[in-house]
Amino acid sequence: MRVTIVGSGFVGATTAMRVVQKGLADDVVMVDIVPDLPQGLALDMRESAPIEGFEPNVRGTNDYADTAGSDLVVITAGLPRQPGMSRMDLLGKNAGIIRDVVGKMTEHSPNAILIVVTNPLDEMTYLTSEVSGFPKQRVMGMAGVLDSSRLRYFIAEELGVSPSRVEAITLGSHGDAMVPLPRQATVEGKPLTELVDEQTLERLYQRTRDAGAEIVALLKKGSAYYAPSAAIAQMVNAIAGDTKEILPVCAWCTGQYGIKDVYVGVPARLGRAGVEEIVELDLNDDERAALRQAAEGIRAKCADLAKLA
Ligand code: APR
Repeated sequence: MRVTIVGSGFVGATTAMRVVQKGLADDVVMVDIVPDLPQGLALDMRESAPIEGFEPNVRGTNDYADTAGSDLVVITAGLPRQPGMSRMDLLGKNAGIIRDVVGKMTEHSPNAILIVVTNPLDEMTYLTSEVSGFPKQRVMGMAGVLDSSRLRYFIAEELGVSPSRVEAITLGSHGDAMVPLPRQATVEGKPLTELVDEQTLERLYQRTRDAGAEIVALLKKGSAYYAPSAAIAQMVNAIAGDTKEILPVCAWCTGQYGIKDVYVGVPARLGRAGVEEIVELDLNDDERAALRQAAEGIRAKCADLAKLA
């Protein structure tokens, strides 16, 4: 299994480190536009192998020919939002980067599965699908695993329990139109809704929606990478290991939940074929309506993207 990670910034580099350290791939390739950067980071990682005890299967390159035959590609290349930059400016800039990267990647790895991480996530996933021309089940975006992990952590912190004993899932889009599902959440096996009041629930959800911005405000420059890279590594493990796990990902809907022909965050069974099934949870009317609204919001933003092309 060859895994290529495009973009060797904070998210790309921490992802490469996690994937190689967990031994999820036989070959991990880091690519960046900056000369020598991925080579230097990969060498630094290999030099930690004797202490950490993993196989040093990681290399860096600036040449896409070195990524040929990748089975799985994680795309993290892109600019973070700068002060004074509008959403449309960021959309335009990162759309240019995605077009460049996806064109080069797919030329050398026509059978790869693509995981998009670059923001704005839902639109960049759609664009990657358009530019690659790949079957939709081989193109997905990472957001739901991260949002769910953040929510699980906030619940654990609130109730003073171990985060590993909290289960929760979020659907919808990455950002304001995130759809939390209180009825699906459990703490040490008990329903979350029996443990906290409505107001607390809403506060935890709002903190989750704003979690990316909370980190940006603390870091001052740059955005989150430890939790994002952990989320990516879980998806890589599910696909590379063909685990058939159900994880919330940005996936192409073909009628599930009454949503058609749009990318949106839904529970998906992941395996060696990519998104092997979109799983339909038993949603109530409000939850279903919120998910549809998120999908329509993404559809409208993708139409904005078409205007920029
Ligand atoms: N080809 C390859 N790499 C590129 C290109 C390109 N055309 N353009 C930019 N890059 C690289 C940059 O050189 C940089 O090393 O992408 C990397 C981005 O790294 P950071 O600026 O550290 O950003 P990071 O925090 O890793 O976030 C990357 O993921 O979570 C999202 O919103 C985030 O869109 C952003 C992306």
